[in-house]
Amino acid sequence: MTLFTLTGKGVTYAFAALESGHLAHIYYGKRADDEDLSYLLRLDENPFTPKVNKRDMGTFMDTTPFEYPVHGTGDYREPAIMLMDNKGMSALDLRFVSYEITKGKPILEQKLEDMTVRLPATFAEENEAETVAVTLEDKRTGLNVILYYTVFADLDVITRSVKLINKGAEAFDVRRVLSACVDLDSDQYDFITLNGSWARERVMERCRLHHGKQSIDSVKGESSHQNNPFAALVSHTADEDMGEAYGFNLVYSGNFFAQAEVTQHKKTRFLMGINPFDFSWKLEPSAEFTAPELVMVYSSEGIGKMSRTFHDLYRQHLIRGEYKDKRRPILINNWEATYFNFDTDKLIGIAKQASELGIEMLVMDDGWFGHRDSDNSSLGDWFVYEKKINGGLKHLVDEVNKLGMKFGIWFEPEMISPDSELYKAHPDWAIQIEGLPMTQSREQYVLDYSRKEVRDCIYGQMRKILDSANIEYIKWDMNRQLTEVGSNALPADRQRELWHRYVLGVYDVMNRLTTDYPHILLENCSGGGARFDAGMLFYSPQIWTSDDTDAIERLKIQHGTSICYPASAMGAHVSDCPNHTVGRSTPFSTRGNVAMVGTFGYELDVTRIPEADRNEIPGQIEMFKKYNPLVRTGDQYRIGNVFEDNMWDAWMFVAKDKSEAVFTFVQVLGRPNYRSRRIKLKGLDPERKYKNHETGEIHTGAALMNCGINVNLSGDFQSKVVYFTAE
Ligand code: DGJ
Repeated sequence: MTLFTLTGKGVTYAFAALESGHLAHIYYGKRADDEDLSYLLRLDENPFTPKVNKRDMGTFMDTTPFEYPVHGTGDYREPAIMLMDNKGMSALDLRFVSYEITKGKPILEQKLEDMTVRLPATFAEENEAETVAVTLEDKRTGLNVILYYTVFADLDVITRSVKLINKGAEAFDVRRVLSACVDLDSDQYDFITLNGSWARERVMERCRLHHGKQSIDSVKGESSHQNNPFAALVSHTADEDMGEAYGFNLVYSGNFFAQAEVTQHKKTRFLMGINPFDFSWKLEPSAEFTAPELVMVYSSEGIGKMSRTFHDLYRQHLIRGEYKDKRRPILINNWEATYFNFDTDKLIGIAKQASELGIEMLVMDDGWFGHRDSDNSSLGDWFVYEKKINGGLKHLVDEVNKLGMKFGIWFEPEMISPDSELYKAHPDWAIQIEGLPMTQSREQYVLDYSRKEVRDCIYGQMRKILDSANIEYIKWDMNRQLTEVGSNALPADRQRELWHRYVLGVYDVMNRLTTDYPHILLENCSGGGARFDAGMLFYSPQIWTSDDTDAIERLKIQHGTSICYPASAMGAHVSDCPNHTVGRSTPFSTRGNVAMVGTFGYELDVTRIPEADRNEIPGQIEMFKKYNPLVRTGDQYRIGNVFEDNMWDAWMFVAKDKSEAVFTFVQVLGRPNYRSRRIKLKGLDPERKYKNHETGEIHTGAALMNCGINVNLSGDFQSKVVYFTAE
């Protein structure tokens, strides 16, 4: 038996290559200092399952916990991999061949006919992580599977990815290649997922696992509004501060699949990766396929610690670029201010007023190109609409720069409108299936990003715009999902690859953009937050969290998003009231206090909002600048939970050295008779004394955390922010 014991700061992950060659899982959980945990292997539970060799316990296929389970040889649980060979056979028999240990973490790449795409993934220096690559082989087909496990030194993180190599003489079709399997020894878990819809993304749901299969997925071509590529298994009693939590997040922006299966012996098999639904990838002899990375976070201190580990990992080892560790410019976006109804003068008017208030960047949203006066035309025509941008783009940008502001611009590079020059010239560039009516959504089609000439044409147009003026920010939007998934350029036996090739094409253009324009701040967006995923974070340090800018709805959206993603990445704006999505009116201060735990900006016509609101802006900006370092680099503690209690929410950001903290409280609904709530703080040093900057009082961290503070607020939607410093 060859034992693999991966030991992180507080976590152990153990597995073994058995004498039979099968790769069996042993343990995943709180750190066990023992190097040899093979005594935990229980391979003889059910004698009625198929077995190859009676004396070889490793062949009790349906009960053995496997690292990378196959189909067709006796394991009837969900497999991680399936293929169809040229004889029409799908069964596999993967056996251990060898392993290799390296310092650091290899990058992930996918070779295609005309390019090699680097897949988004976490990165680490040689002293920050160690990787073991374990090779398995299916002798009959020549399929080689390399399983990569990276253990981070300072974080309880293990990442997994898989590379397939066809070492056989014949091509085969890979029908499923998930990024990881974890066979846990118990079924006593709750399944946490982040689900929703447009304008209410990443609503946290928690349910008890039961026999059978519980899954989430996307079949839309993007990670989606409906299910985020995140799932967690937590002990039934786990809460923010206590209990075990296993978090899983796929670093991928397309169709994904996550499933927890409770098996006959009350064990849990968890699997996650590219959605096998409608997926196939032809692997010629010597060709390779790389599956995206799965990040696995373990916490023995509740869901809060799990989230903080994800936040640290993504801030330090996923997000890149000039803005990685920098405060982002405070922006004003004209979408909710003007929608399509704007011109140069209108934008300059907004910028003038905004600059006087301290706002730092104007973002020109949808409607500046082609002949776009509504959402029914011009996608694909990335040249300036002179009627609106009278005087040209450079003139507009120069005028905005003269006001001391940066300028940002909106693109939707993956789309094509039927009413566009591009569609007239290249109708075949849209994703389509000959003979099927093309489904429109927002009166647009999706471009076939698997084709290099399509990507080159769009990126070429973008470059012309970017080179024509001093543009310092891009909002990359994506406003519909894929239908009639067919390419006019792929052969029949590669058509089912289009879902994944599309995502690789998007990554290619994002890679070109961030390489050629490293100073540009890229913000991703997809009809609000339909592509808030770790794949996108590799290119853009911030993502538009949701089109729902209502401060109260945002409590849920930002709480759910923070389960996996850091506040530093959440696009959050103060908008006008009544809110355009839900019609609710909230105090301007509360809108600011909620947006402040994101990248912060305004999404309103600053020339037309009530004067009292406008007067609050300089104060909000000052507060944002003061607290942003804490929000961007500190530890987040969720105190309230609006999913459970609709009356209030609260959170804290605490400096890593525990020297300062900021506490935010939002009262959703006021309550009768007595106004005061006692709220227990979190994350402070119990032994240090802290000054409450609202009251001037000094208390120990222990008092503030064990006894709490009184929060007196009257009225619906009121909020407050309190700053604490250690004495
Ligand atoms: C959807 C985005 O989420 C909005 O912020 C805005 O950019 C519109 N698209 C523009 O069409």
